[in-house]
Amino acid sequence: MRLTILGGGGFRVPLVYQALLGDRGEGRITSVVLYDTDRGRLGAIGAVLRQQAAKYSDAPAVTETTDLDEALRGADFVFSAIRVGGLEGRTVDERVALDLGVLGQETVGAGGIAYALRTLPVAVGIAQRIAELAPEAWVINFTNPAGMVTEAMIPYLGDRVIGICDSPSGLGRRAALALGLDASTVFYDYAGLNHLGWLRGLQSGGVDRLPELLADSTALGAFEEGRLFGVEWLRSLGSIPNEYLHYYYFARETLAAVQAVEQTRGTFLLEQQSAFYAETARRPDDALELWQKTRAERESTYMVESRAVADAGERDERDMSAGGYEQVALSLMRAIAHNERASLILNVRNRGTLRHLDDDAVVEVPCTVDANGARPVTVSQFTDHQAGLVCAVKAVERSTIEAATTGSRAAAVRAFAWHPLIDSVTAAHQLLDGYADRLPELAPFRR
Ligand code: G6P
Ligand code: MN
Repeated sequence: MRLTILGGGGFRVPLVYQALLGDRGEGRITSVVLYDTDRGRLGAIGAVLRQQAAKYSDAPAVTETTDLDEALRGADFVFSAIRVGGLEGRTVDERVALDLGVLGQETVGAGGIAYALRTLPVAVGIAQRIAELAPEAWVINFTNPAGMVTEAMIPYLGDRVIGICDSPSGLGRRAALALGLDASTVFYDYAGLNHLGWLRGLQSGGVDRLPELLADSTALGAFEEGRLFGVEWLRSLGSIPNEYLHYYYFARETLAAVQAVEQTRGTFLLEQQSAFYAETARRPDDALELWQKTRAERESTYMVESRAVADAGERDERDMSAGGYEQVALSLMRAIAHNERASLILNVRNRGTLRHLDDDAVVEVPCTVDANGARPVTVSQFTDHQAGLVCAVKAVERSTIEAATTGSRAAAVRAFAWHPLIDSVTAAHQLLDGYADRLPELAPFRR
């Protein structure tokens, strides 16, 4: 089995490779092709993987290429985790928005729209190449904003493209753990869009244990989402929101906290990651050690402003090591390759699951996965509040996709103006102008 990783020089690739090394099952991945546009990054990550593989006699073979077509030919799985515009782009996504008084974040609000506007055309181009060169391949999309990117690739790849994220499984695992349950035996009644969902039930042994968790202040206060949102608000909602909803429920506080610090997440990562790639080029023999050190620092500072706003303290040790998106990716590949039925929360077409959205809307819901791919399972319907927010953001996503695929300025302005975290049409125009001035990919949107 061959896995092609687009964005193969990316910092999180060693996590995926580590998961593959741990997979002893039959029909496992035996060959990994790393594709990236940047040779230097490919070399650094290639060195990390070689050191990871050193302890294994049957490690998957790794090859590196900067030729997309070559990377795609013969792939059984394509894992896409690219960052168009790099971390420099991420810092611009943040800064332009913050300077105009709205949240600038990787995937949420104005920042996420700008990121999507430059990523979607590239993702569509990749989807077309896959449809041409590897039409049988399954495509696992981790490229953010993952929901929108998956929806934009579906016209070319159908249900062979499946979006993944680590946040729903992370939330589920933390909630299960807080109840003392084995996370893998629980059914999660989770639904929403990527980075905009709620855990509305937690079925174990035929019983919904969420009410018990919501009633237990100590258990709630012991994990990330409980600390971020506060016991009272969780009880009032009757569900546990994805951590990204902190940007909505505490919009002014998170905005103020992000504005108060000079360093955004993007500038921190840009500095940190540039240092990692430069140092690894100088000391390739220490690649793995440098990667581990950098990763620990990155994980411990994740969503640091939100945790400061909520006074949530340090990030839990368990969340920095426990199976994140690489486990979701591996479980998904295994279920498809072995026809081994699994239940995973994925980004797929709605197909009638959630009645507030049409069949083709990509949603993030629990799915049954086997050799035929992923199918959403029955979950509870949205409450009015959830439906309102989800439908508003889905309209933003679709206007963003329209703008990115047609170049329409009107559609781009609509996307910004409709976003619940952007409070004025004037600001929407200013945001688009600000981004078009600083991001070459968005220059065509200039007035
Ligand atoms: C989580 C989300 C990803 C996101 C990442 C950002 O893993 O699921 O979608 O890209 O966090 O983390 P970072 O360390 O880059 O701020
Ligand atoms: Mn994610």
